[in-house]
Amino acid sequence: MTLLQRIETRKQQLQDAGLWRDRQMTTPIAGSPRLLVRNGKPLVDFAGNDYLGLASHPQVIAAQTAALATYGAGSTASPLVSGYSEAHAMLEQQLCAASGAEAALLLSSGFAGNAALLKTLFAAEDTVVADKLIHASMIDALRDHQVTLKRFPHNDIDAAERQLAKAPGSALVTESIFSMDGDEAPMGALAELCQRYQSPLIIDDAHGFLLSDSLSVKPFARLVTFGKALGGQGAAILGSQTLIDYLVANAREYIYSTALAPAACAGVSQALALALDGHLQQRLNENIQLFHDECQRRNITLMASRSAIQPLVLGDSARVMLVANKLQQRGFLVGAIRPPTVPHGQGRLRLTLSAAHQPQQLIDLAKAIAECCDEC
Ligand SMILES: Cc1ncc(COP(=O)(O)O)c(C=O)c1O
Repeated sequence: MTLLQRIETRKQQLQDAGLWRDRQMTTPIAGSPRLLVRNGKPLVDFAGNDYLGLASHPQVIAAQTAALATYGAGSTASPLVSGYSEAHAMLEQQLCAASGAEAALLLSSGFAGNAALLKTLFAAEDTVVADKLIHASMIDALRDHQVTLKRFPHNDIDAAERQLAKAPGSALVTESIFSMDGDEAPMGALAELCQRYQSPLIIDDAHGFLLSDSLSVKPFARLVTFGKALGGQGAAILGSQTLIDYLVANAREYIYSTALAPAACAGVSQALALALDGHLQQRLNENIQLFHDECQRRNITLMASRSAIQPLVLGDSARVMLVANKLQQRGFLVGAIRPPTVPHGQGRLRLTLSAAHQPQQLIDLAKAIAECCDEC
């Protein structure tokens, strides 16, 4: 079988199983946060991760635009050559001040950040203990380096302890808020466990940074992504000066890659300043509460999540697609999440709420979900 034939066969198998994925173009409506157009139809965006509405914030856009004039469109080189600018250094300092970390390192994506961190730190002789639901980027990095990966059932602190007792000193990896379930890790208990077993704690804070109490613990390393609550692009690893110096000198994803665009850093710097103020989180929390109340009123049973990520498990992949398409016809874009991103039988709508949503949009979404679920 040729490579192309293999691809065609695999494609057919995925299509038959209802698991084929493709892209559809969306265009944001300028000046209207959380509104976009797909196939000529305006939609309210409940699929993106712009939890604080900062992606389209005028001050963020102004800061990024001004930096374009200063720095140009791109960094033009690896940070170790000539790609590390004042915009990078300033954002690193701001992130350290916000998190209490000693040092930071910027990468072009969270996926690259997890790869840089885990592949540089761990090799085949190491064991890493991790929550069952950690993100694909971490699993891939550990598997690529043949690390022994011991996964404990989701958020099961006793099971985590049993793993650490067998291999004390092994690093423990978790997310702060889980990307597909929206629930929080028991951060304090995990930090205490790690201290007891002298195990470094590594937190993927992609969805929890500045939106949860994840900063109450001081991990060995924390990954922060800029593409979620901060509305931008890129990521940072936060940790001790020793860790960051080691990564600068050794992380292949950092050394052999063009540095994040300085203008992107300037946009994230401004977004971070706005996020630290706290009033956007308050708006978001009000929206989460309103949506919960509306769903409860209509007997819609969401997963137990208090975060901006509100999953509604529908089970079968075909039903997930059917309900998501019906919602789209009614003007709502929602995430339709199927295996292998979530376990078989746990296909779900992933509804993401934002400080920028209007209360009426949340009420309308809950009503539309109830009606579409009844129809399917
Ligand atoms: C938990 C988690 N970690 C890491 C990433 C990767 O971040 P990025 O999108 O910046 O590559 C994601 C993105 O979906 C994520 O959800």
